[in-house]
Amino acid sequence: MTSLDYQTGFGNHFSTEALPGALPTGRNSPQNCPYGLYAEQLSGTAFTMPRAENRRSWLYRIRPTALQDAFEPYEGAAGWSGDFGTEPISPNRLRWNAPDLPEAPADFVDGMQTWAGNGHSNDQTGVGIHLYTANRSMKRRVFYNADGELLIVPEQGRLRIATELGLIDLEPCEIAVIPRGVRFRVRLLDETARGYVLENYGAPLRPPELGPIGSNGLANTRDFLTPVAWYEDIEESFELIAKFSGGLWRTTLNHSPLDVVAWHGTNAPYKYDLRRFNVIGSISYDHPDPCLFTVLTSPSDTPGAANVDFAIFPPRILVAEDTFRPPWFHRNFASEFMGLIQGVYDAKAEGFVPGGASLHNCMSPHGPDAETFEKAIQADTSQPHYIRDTMAFMFETRRIIRPTRAALASATLQQGYDTVWSGIRKHFDPAKP
Ligand SMILES: [Fe+2]
Repeated sequence: MTSLDYQTGFGNHFSTEALPGALPTGRNSPQNCPYGLYAEQLSGTAFTMPRAENRRSWLYRIRPTALQDAFEPYEGAAGWSGDFGTEPISPNRLRWNAPDLPEAPADFVDGMQTWAGNGHSNDQTGVGIHLYTANRSMKRRVFYNADGELLIVPEQGRLRIATELGLIDLEPCEIAVIPRGVRFRVRLLDETARGYVLENYGAPLRPPELGPIGSNGLANTRDFLTPVAWYEDIEESFELIAKFSGGLWRTTLNHSPLDVVAWHGTNAPYKYDLRRFNVIGSISYDHPDPCLFTVLTSPSDTPGAANVDFAIFPPRILVAEDTFRPPWFHRNFASEFMGLIQGVYDAKAEGFVPGGASLHNCMSPHGPDAETFEKAIQADTSQPHYIRDTMAFMFETRRIIRPTRAALASATLQQGYDTVWSGIRKHFDPAKP
């Protein structure tokens, strides 16, 4: 059976059942569950987190997940890494072209290449940043990540993500978040797929507080979609791949683990269409900080300094008058990893391509390239500027983002990225105030 219905909202206590009456009433774990199901709790935060932060769900399934054999190391997905090294890294600004689509068979797990990261999953701080390229669906294979939740950002190719808690269909310009530990399988709905994955080791992502913006705006919570219960009852051999403490592990099951017939709770996967983001910006002058574009944030233990923010730069209208409209030159406390889902990013004339990436670490100066600067200082700011064809995003973190050896050795690494700024001219003339 398939069911692609969704429940709306963020952080709700959802209740859903694929068979009528499968959800027990009153008790989470009755002595006997309806339909002979097993009750199992999946917690996504510490038990004693405050109510607003607390995530946990109760799953009613054909077999408990405890029914599995010992794991052994899995060597088939050599691109994953959870160790970002300790050797010195340069403050250089880096930019990459898009990775080629794979020639050898690769699914969503085997086609993953860790590109950068910081912190460590063992400490529940930091992030892993990955690029995936795939040309086949996961078959008789299911994956879970004990190290963090996964934010999936497709750039090419639609995906059907079958999770324990239901089905999610995803296309470029949409994102999905799979909580830590949730088992899932990715089917390609097109011939190939490419995109970005943020692995968040810290507190679960959530929309940011809105402060003076008020009760509406940015990503409206009604647009977050969580799947309804769906299950398969298949008694065949399945490979289960786990990512745990930075390493990949495999074991075999004699059944599909996607067998949750009903569930309720707050810990669940969800999707969001980035095109629904309500962009807020300056309607008078000047250019607000990019935190105004935050879709989701994972707070750290320091208020205001996120473990990671996921921000987007979607189509929008620039109206600020007597203002340098592109992002200004800046050196930031935070470190910024950017990607492009479609179109053109307004701060760069060329070189930043869909599927590619850039990295601007803490205090590494960046901003518009020479061509964009010259255009912007001559623009007629009495007229609105419509940015139509774009969807860029940023993973912004408080910690230095360390590129992996694979990223630094990649043929996609652009040589001479610094030269995009080398054409910047001196305009200073002490005789012309
Ligand atoms: Fe920046």
